Amino acid sequence: MFNRSNRGALAAAVVCVGALTFGTPAAAGAATTSVPSAQNAALTVEAGAGAKGADKPEHKSKGRPDHAGQSGRPDHAGKPGPPDHAKGKDKGKGNGKGPGNGGGGGDAAQCQFTPEGGAAEGAWDRDSLAGVAPDDLRIGNIAAGGGHHSDAEYPDPFPSDPEYREHLASEYSSVTHENFLKWEFVHPEPGVYDFEQADAVVAYAEENGMDIRGHALFWHSQNPDWLEDGDYSQDELREILEEHVRTVVSRYAGCIDQWDVANEIFQDDAEASIRDSDNIWIRELGPGILDDVFTWAHEEDPEALLFYNDYNVDGLNAKADAYYSLITDQLERGIPVHGFGSQTHLSMQYGFDNSYQENLQRFDDLGLYTAVTEIDVRGEVDENDQMSAEDRAGAAERYETVLEACLAVSGCNSFTIWGTLDAQSWVPNTFPGEGDATLHEGDYERKPAYCILQRTLVEHEEGDAAWDADPAFEECRSILQEAGL
Ligand code: G3I
Repeated sequence: MFNRSNRGALAAAVVCVGALTFGTPAAAGAATTSVPSAQNAALTVEAGAGAKGADKPEHKSKGRPDHAGQSGRPDHAGKPGPPDHAKGKDKGKGNGKGPGNGGGGGDAAQCQFTPEGGAAEGAWDRDSLAGVAPDDLRIGNIAAGGGHHSDAEYPDPFPSDPEYREHLASEYSSVTHENFLKWEFVHPEPGVYDFEQADAVVAYAEENGMDIRGHALFWHSQNPDWLEDGDYSQDELREILEEHVRTVVSRYAGCIDQWDVANEIFQDDAEASIRDSDNIWIRELGPGILDDVFTWAHEEDPEALLFYNDYNVDGLNAKADAYYSLITDQLERGIPVHGFGSQTHLSMQYGFDNSYQENLQRFDDLGLYTAVTEIDVRGEVDENDQMSAEDRAGAAERYETVLEACLAVSGCNSFTIWGTLDAQSWVPNTFPGEGDATLHEGDYERKPAYCILQRTLVEHEEGDAAWDADPAFEECRSILQEAGL
């Protein structure tokens, strides 16, 4: 059985896979490189061509969650859209990849990082968030590392801190690379891929029965200088992008369950105009390139769910409208878009839209999955890096509102918190004077925000009586009582 005690040992088994070097940035399909895999077996990566043309299975042995009893996504208005994600529903706590899980076609792409004997089946403790969530709702967090951590007074948490990894696996059923899958980390030089850190997170997730959200393939930020400052023609840029998408998606086919394919493509102006100046791809190639990116990713892993993802789409607003129009148009043309992710970086200094659920629902009504992909709720902090008691309670209530919205929308299948400990969070680094945005104190003690999520999940799944009576929830009952929640 998969439990808290053996999870630490598994988590420590971080694999190292070296950097891959391919011929030229634009040389799609030519180079083949062998590297050791997690199991020391030979692993072949084809740059650019990815798995295209290979013997690609159609379905993983898992499917779309169904926590509101809905029987599957509609067929995108009859268009040749995504595969049948209702097939092989995974009703277990696992990720559907291991033996006995799912029950789909059985012809799925095999994740090359799956341990011998199959991926672990998650079985979280009764009082963990993943342990009380519906079977079809993944509760996630990030594998913290990269970004500001490189220069901070502590090392990257994921690679360096076993306690951190153990905590992550004991609470969450899904993980997202905070920075390690972004272009500047994975594609540091033209034609050079460095998957070491990204692979380690994927292997860890497989060993711990966690799903993986891949972040991100197409973005205006955290791109390497060689790309942003390069002097490439349109044809070259298109080839570079295609090669990157195919190489990265095919490497993790069968492993990564959902991809943030296009991240933050609209601006925050009143018209929510498309980022045609700071997004190199849109600026140089036009917004039509988005069709290609989703299509390439889908070709490389037909079972992965492909998402748009953005911040400030926490309700019915101009930016969310822009996504709604764009995706509606793409679905009508058969582009394989499967999901809409609301990052949900909230601050107690700003109001919070009460149309959060309505917004998710309209994307659900299009036949899409939805996900809360990066939630945190920050506020002004004191000398102890804490918000006022009032703001803490308010932040907890925002977490609660967003989780309730996700639970109420049938295709909302993932709820990811962007950070574990405040000291490692992107928030204090980006917003000096703000913080307290995560669910745990510095010693992993639970905050009211954690406990309100636990209560929401327990009451949703098992009713008020279970929450009131079960000794497993005593810790959180008293934390919430003390916080007046
Ligand atoms: O590149 C510089 C480097 O030259 C310098 O030495 C170093 C010193 O701190 O900073 C480096 O930049 C850092 C960058 O990560 C590196 O990739 C920034 O300071 C740092 O703030 C940045 O943070 C990351 C941020 O994305 C960048 O946008 C965070 O760690 C990461 O949590 C955050 O995650 C994003 C999601 O990907 C998308 N949605 C918003 C979310 C929060 O910003």
